[in-house]
Amino acid sequence: MSSQSSPLSSSGSRAPITLSTLIKLKQKGEKFTCMTAYDACFAQLESEAGVEVILIGDSLGMVLQGHDSTLPVTMDDMVYHISCVKRGNRGAFLIGDMPFMSYASETQTLENAATLMRAGAQMIKIEGGAWIANSTHLLAERGIPVCAHMGLTPQSINRIGGYHVQGRDPRHAESMLAEAKLLEESGASILLLECVPQTLAKTISEALTIPVIGIGAGPDTDAQVMVVHDVLGISPITPKFVKNFLKDSDDGITGALRAYVADVKAKRFPAPEHCFN
Ligand code: KIV
Repeated sequence: MSSQSSPLSSSGSRAPITLSTLIKLKQKGEKFTCMTAYDACFAQLESEAGVEVILIGDSLGMVLQGHDSTLPVTMDDMVYHISCVKRGNRGAFLIGDMPFMSYASETQTLENAATLMRAGAQMIKIEGGAWIANSTHLLAERGIPVCAHMGLTPQSINRIGGYHVQGRDPRHAESMLAEAKLLEESGASILLLECVPQTLAKTISEALTIPVIGIGAGPDTDAQVMVVHDVLGISPITPKFVKNFLKDSDDGITGALRAYVADVKAKRFPAPEHCFN
């Protein structure tokens, strides 16, 4: 493991992860990890376990608030949870989700992204394909790094009609590849792919120079992301792509988080049973 991706030095701290750390990891072919956190305690545990990227995801609407979708999450919710995570974080790179309808117009996009950055995010994440290319450009041009979230985009659940795998049909897969390239050209610094066939995720990851983070996208993306409640086996539903790392941990939650990091880096997770083909 290189010093840049090493969880902790002998003094118990590590150099803060930056976007260039992640790009270098992709160039070297070394996997990195991302996990959601919504509070200071988990931010500290995850960053100390070696998770490189913490996502303050709008999944908090489902896992913390008990809603049946991410749609009710507000900007105030995101600001609160990002500021909690920032206080506990020990050097991970922080991505904050822009909630539903917070980037519907250019003015809204700029103001809301700036608010999340002031709260402590180092990058914002927006969901969509070609239609978010303008917002991506607008933000990137002004110094706000963007993670574009494609594939299954939970904020569009009412249009998609269910939590289904995206890009199975060859024509859809082709348009997703074109949209991913467009988002990179528009200035996206990271692409996140959710619930897409393994082969499509591999093609997209190889076609882009920016890091690609996957969830339910197979082992060939540059990084993996998981919802922390899923990794600990405390979510009421267990999707196919989830592994409970707490079950076999010999050191409680810390052991589970370390096992997740180790398994992603050693390419043991995701295994074939977690993938869509
Ligand atoms: O909101 C979230 O936690 C996410 C992940 C599931 C990728 O977008």
